Amino acid sequence: MSAPSLIEIKGLEYAYHSGARVLHDINLSVCKGEFVAIVGQNGSGKSTLARLMAGIDFPSAGQVLAGGINTRDKKLALDLRKTIGIVFQNPENQIVFEKVADDMAFALGNLGLDKDEIAVRIRETAAMMGIENFTDGFELSMGQKQRVAIAGVLAMRPECIIFDEPTAMLDPRGKKDIHSIIVDQHKRGLTVVYVTNVIDEVLSADRIIILSGGSVKYEFEKKDLFRNIDKLKELGLETPFIFESVDKLKSRGIDIELEDYTLDDLTEKIAEKVK
Ligand SMILES: Nc1ncnc2c1ncn2[C@@H]1O[C@H](COP(=O)(O)OP(=O)(O)OP(=O)(O)O)[C@@H](O)[C@H]1O
Ligand SMILES: [Mg+2]
Repeated sequence: MSAPSLIEIKGLEYAYHSGARVLHDINLSVCKGEFVAIVGQNGSGKSTLARLMAGIDFPSAGQVLAGGINTRDKKLALDLRKTIGIVFQNPENQIVFEKVADDMAFALGNLGLDKDEIAVRIRETAAMMGIENFTDGFELSMGQKQRVAIAGVLAMRPECIIFDEPTAMLDPRGKKDIHSIIVDQHKRGLTVVYVTNVIDEVLSADRIIILSGGSVKYEFEKKDLFRNIDKLKELGLETPFIFESVDKLKSRGIDIELEDYTLDDLTEKIAEKVK
């Protein structure tokens, strides 16, 4: 039996005030505990969809339900915030207060948490995200701001977080660190919707959704990724190193079926073959 759905999008259409329809005919669901990657070229509508999923913007037609809550229902706005959080593509849209701790505390206070709980969550999340020494949020680099923005949402501990290209501004080490923190949070039960065009990050997903021109062009499970790799190439994404390795081994007569496309998985399968 599949897990119950946490986000349900039905007949979604969206146009900005200024004009043309940006999203159309979107029907999607995200299950509790799932890790879904949303991939697509610049302007395909990823960030717009992310904001609609989180109830920051509202559909022009159709509806978005998150944990059964219609995102338009203002009376349930607090419950919605406890269910779903979003890390914006631009961290400057996320940071409101100058002091990093005040910024995190404000959002936690809005959830109705007491002072002690707020202090514990700020301390734990700041340590996890490596931002303990950041004080003035406005004076940080974009990559540092991105860490603060992610920390603020993680500290709220919603059931699901939508990450809109969360590692785009980080250095290579930072990208790996933050991506693995998100993967770890997923293992602990967080439902993750992850907008990215980084192939290694796509590999962490259970399901991949490709947006094009404001609608879903392709949608497939991770287990079908190998035979759908051309669809990612269409977007200009690189072929993962793991896939090339499997192809090369195959050309040498060694057939390998991977389960999670990690180096550990590949090593394990080769070791089984040569035993
Ligand atoms: N505030 C806005 N007002 C009007 N149109 C907008 C606005 N924001 C985005 N758009 C338009 O909506 C479309 C989708 O934009 P969106 O930012 O959702 O794309 P994206 O896939 O996230 O792109 P990127 O990869 O560059 O982040 C684009 O055509 C864009 O011009
Ligand atoms: Mg975007």
